[in-house]
Amino acid sequence: MTDNERLHQVQSHLILARTHRDRIKDGLTVITKGERVWVFDQNGRRYLDLEAGMTRPVHVGYGRKEIAQAAYDQMVKLCYFTPMEFANEPALRLAEVLSEMTPEKINQFFFVSSGSEAVESAMKLAKHFHFFRGERKRYKVISRRGAYHGVTGGALNVLGTVLPMRQVMEPLAPGTVFVESPYCYRCPLHLTYPSCDLACAKDVERVIQFEDPEQISALIGEPIQQGFGAYAPPKDYWKVIREICDRYGILLIIDEVICGFGRTGRWFGIDHFDIQPDLMTMAKGISSGYVPLGAVGCTDRVMDPIDIFHHLHTYSNHPVACAAALKNLEIMKNEHLIDRSWEMGAYFLDGLKTLESHPIVGEVRGTGLWLGMDFTLDKKKKTPFPPQRVIRITDRAKEKGLIIKTMGQALEFAPSLIIQKEEIDEAIRILDECIREEEKD
Ligand SMILES: Cc1ncc(COP(=O)(O)O)c(C=O)c1O
Repeated sequence: MTDNERLHQVQSHLILARTHRDRIKDGLTVITKGERVWVFDQNGRRYLDLEAGMTRPVHVGYGRKEIAQAAYDQMVKLCYFTPMEFANEPALRLAEVLSEMTPEKINQFFFVSSGSEAVESAMKLAKHFHFFRGERKRYKVISRRGAYHGVTGGALNVLGTVLPMRQVMEPLAPGTVFVESPYCYRCPLHLTYPSCDLACAKDVERVIQFEDPEQISALIGEPIQQGFGAYAPPKDYWKVIREICDRYGILLIIDEVICGFGRTGRWFGIDHFDIQPDLMTMAKGISSGYVPLGAVGCTDRVMDPIDIFHHLHTYSNHPVACAAALKNLEIMKNEHLIDRSWEMGAYFLDGLKTLESHPIVGEVRGTGLWLGMDFTLDKKKKTPFPPQRVIRITDRAKEKGLIIKTMGQALEFAPSLIIQKEEIDEAIRILDECIREEEKD
């Protein structure tokens, strides 16, 4: 039996995440190898990966031997030791490095194994903060319609999008309050920026008053939101939210799971908005996907009242994951990948703008190497575009050797930060072809 036949035979034993049966009825694509921004399948076919591993973690590109070596060295030296009452060197070093690169007051860190766990930990830390200060009524969390914060219990509660994911697991625990997102292209409040006077942000205060300010623990949000396709809010949006949170003693959790570590051309997405979060969640680019790792960071003010953090994952503060992350961050610094993300992002955006002449392309946008292309059936009215047709565009692209992903009515692009101009040019050429073919259909 050949290797390929064997892969085909074993596919019935593996459960895939969020994959309709119909999508794999003709067999699986098995990715067997990665080099820089390219991946290869079981038949040796090469794909230009515009999504850094599809869930977008691989910031430094595939095949970095230095990260493998750092993980190997740490495994041999100390593979694991408990996060309770003991520390390990890589976790201590990584916490120190992060305290220097995150916003000024984010100073203490706890490491977990995913973005969802980081979100859980942040919400628990917020609850602990209020609990130890005697404000035990604060249990509600404000999230935004359209938000994505992960899939574990607490994270699922604040998931503001992808209806079936919530629906299947309902009833969810009470305590999440949703407000509107800043999605100006199709404003949920039917207003126009700037004459809207940031109504979506200011409305949060009205919701807090309605819900009882003394019951609210935290507000969580992605600095630039995935939900509608890499949507950056207006410049002052986060300032308004920060002021409202301060007025009511509510902690602000900024979810940097996607934006963090250079995705948007700054170390963190919130760096574009000049505000100070109380807590930050991170994952993906922190280790470039070489090992599972997430983190929550918070200010001393948040940690000070907390006598003990009643929380534990066996793999918290994992030494191997932290050692790999340290090497990954060193590469990002040495190769100036944050500046690169900003420069290449601008180049990519210029290329995508040339595709705005297509009748079905509504709006193209981006911050650093996180970009989106919103489709519409009518440019003037911004008529919604069937998500199935966006999926069809991604299927066409895959046939032509380009990996891209959908985000509802939009396409989203998040390549490794090492992508080169010629690769971006190649991607734009293929995208142009795919959109043209979709228009003909
Ligand atoms: C903003 C945000 N938060 C949290 C998560 C959950 O991270 P994970 O899939 O690692 O659990 C994601 C995943 O994409 C995310 O985009």
